This record gives sequence, structure tokens and C-alpha cells, in this order.
Amino acid sequence: MINELFKKRRSIRKYDPSKIVSDDLIKQLLEAGMCAPSACNTRPWEFIVIKNDELIHKITEIHPYTQMIKTSQCAIIVVGLPNNQVNLPGANMWPQDCAAATENILLQATEFNLGSCWCGIYPTDRVAKFQSLLDLPSHKIPFNVIAIGYTAEKFGSRGFYEESKVKWLK
Ligand SMILES: Cc1cc2nc3c(=O)[nH]c(=O)nc-3n(C[C@H](O)[C@H](O)[C@H](O)COP(=O)(O)O)c2cc1C
Repeated sequence: MINELFKKRRSIRKYDPSKIVSDDLIKQLLEAGMCAPSACNTRPWEFIVIKNDELIHKITEIHPYTQMIKTSQCAIIVVGLPNNQVNLPGANMWPQDCAAATENILLQATEFNLGSCWCGIYPTDRVAKFQSLLDLPSHKIPFNVIAIGYTAEKFGSRGFYEESKVKWLK
């Protein structure tokens, strides 16, 4: 049997605004993220933790599909660092590495009974808008916004096994 966490994790878009996730829990989520594998162990990521109402409002203006962070009141921005991989066999693999770190964060959040939602930034034209909002240089690429909070909605599992997606070569 696979771990229940994989099925329990869902994208949560309504949070209880009376409860704010502690910095200690956020730090543990980031630790889980930083345990992810990365090409040539380059760890091409940084994380920006946002708990500031004004910034949260500005994010929802430049990324309309992040409205849920108004109730979660906490968001993590995963930032990719392509320069960590220049001239290495792992060059340009940073999006995969950032995705791996993101999934670790989502699953650890689920384990803590927190809701989360992955909201993509890269590779859309929102990258430049986030760089400007967060005062990031061009070599630091905002990859996604992860909403983190105490959930105000419950869903059943969406994950399932699909044999048609698998080709066995034995
Ligand atoms: C790369 C990526 C980008 C996504 N962007 C958004 C987004 O901008 N806003 C949002 O509400 N959900 C976003 N999602 C969440 C998906 O809509 C969600 O994962 C999908 O519908 C499956 O539902 P589940 O996560 O509850 O299993 C994104 C997910 C991924 C992996």
C-alpha cells in the first residue's frame, strides 16, 4: 500500500484566516523542501516566506489564480537559481529541482495537517512581475507561489493508478 499522504494531499483554496502557521512549522516545511534531490546536488533554490498583508494583496493582483493566499495569509515563493548549474551536466535542470522541493513541501504540509496549493509562475510572463515585486535580480527566477495554511475545506482523494499511463518493458 502506498503512503496515505499522497492521496490526502489536495490543492486547498479556502483557509481558516483565524489561524496563522507558525514560523517554526514553516521552517520545517522548508527543511523538507531542501531535502529534495537536485541535479549534481546543486540545490538551485531559495525560498521567500511571505506573511505580509500588503505583499499578499499585490501577489493576488499580478497572479489572479493565487486568491487563496488572502485566507492562508502565508505563502512560500520557491526561487530557482540557474547560475548554480552553469557548465555542469545538470545545467537547466533547476525547474525539475524546484518542482521536487515543492512536492516535498506539499507532502510535509499534508503530514502536519496543513493545506497547501502550488500556483505556478515559471515559465509565464509573471516571472518578470514577481522579480519586480520582490526586488529579485534577473538570475533569480520565481518558480511558484505555495499557499500554506489551516484548511477550511475538505476533499476526498483525487489520486489514482492508471494502468494506461504505464508501459512495461521487461
Ligand atoms: C505547475 C502547477 C501549477 C499550478 N498552478 C495553480 C494556480 O495557479 N492556481 C491554483 O489554484 N492551482 C494551481 N495548481 C494546482 C492544480 O490545479 C491541482 O494540482 C490540480 O487541479 C489537481 O488537484 P489536486 O492538487 O487537488 O490533486 C497548479 C499545479 C501545478 C502542478
